[in-house]
Amino acid sequence: MPTMPRVTPENFRHLSLLLRLGKNPAATVYESLGDDFFIAPPDGWLNLGLWEPGQHDASNASEHLVATLAAPLPKHSVVVDVGNGLGAQDPVIKDVTQARSLIAVNITEAQLRYGAARLKRADAAPLAADATRLPLRDASAEGIISVEAAFHFSSRPAFFAEARRVLSPGGVLSMSDVSMERFPLWPDEALAGAANLRLWGLKASNMTSATRIEAQIRTAGFSQVEVRRCTAEVLEPAIAYLSSRLDAHHDAPMLYRAGARLMLAQWSLLRRRGVIEYLLITAS
Ligand SMILES: C[S@@+](CC[C@H](N)C(=O)[O-])C[C@H]1O[C@@H](n2cnc3c(N)ncnc32)[C@H](O)[C@@H]1O
Repeated sequence: MPTMPRVTPENFRHLSLLLRLGKNPAATVYESLGDDFFIAPPDGWLNLGLWEPGQHDASNASEHLVATLAAPLPKHSVVVDVGNGLGAQDPVIKDVTQARSLIAVNITEAQLRYGAARLKRADAAPLAADATRLPLRDASAEGIISVEAAFHFSSRPAFFAEARRVLSPGGVLSMSDVSMERFPLWPDEALAGAANLRLWGLKASNMTSATRIEAQIRTAGFSQVEVRRCTAEVLEPAIAYLSSRLDAHHDAPMLYRAGARLMLAQWSLLRRRGVIEYLLITAS
């Protein structure tokens, strides 16, 4: 049962990102969203989902996204999940990979606490750490999965270098990400881009194209890299779903509802104009 969102001190810290990104903007954002972001599916998912035709259930779409990303990872091995959200994905990763050991990395410590029961169910070890400085030994894992988190990292190349270091030879990196395919040219696009950078605590320098992301992965030492663009299977249905959640949430403070509505309209604009794309990436 969704609870009525309350305004918290973390929400005010989140607002301060409009002025200054600060040291750990991702944690500021996710501490502010708490463990029951009012328009997200109620069971702890924080990704947009991979929607099959006729799919109407957001949790199933989120689960399908994670299962699709987990499928190429080596079975019965050591798997590292980077940016694990509220842990809803970890039982799915465990099921699909039968991981011998699963490590859930998150820069937002509060999310590791909120997701503790889900991590326990997945027999996953929580690790509070930054994706660009993983406190893990060289060649200590066979699989790395990262679901919809890399656009938050302070540097994608630093994350790819860490992934290459931590993976043993033949290891697999599987992830989803959002790219910026061209610079926002028109005032409405520029406003939408700038507002979302601030709202989500993202660095402008981290916004880059699919082609550039692929090149960064190769530069880090991965040889086989596949990038699949699946914007229509992710962004369109997710925006429709989140809008319907918003319509149902008359109890949320008006400021939240107006802000969320504006954000969804801006995502829609950026998608329609081809500024942003949603990517599924596998590298080994
Ligand atoms: C959009 S959420 C996705 C959550 C989750 N993967 C899911 O699908 O529900 C992004 C996640 O990445 C985490 N994150 C952001 N920056 C990070 C970093 N530098 N290192 C580790 N985790 C990070 C956030 O705390 C958050 O849990």
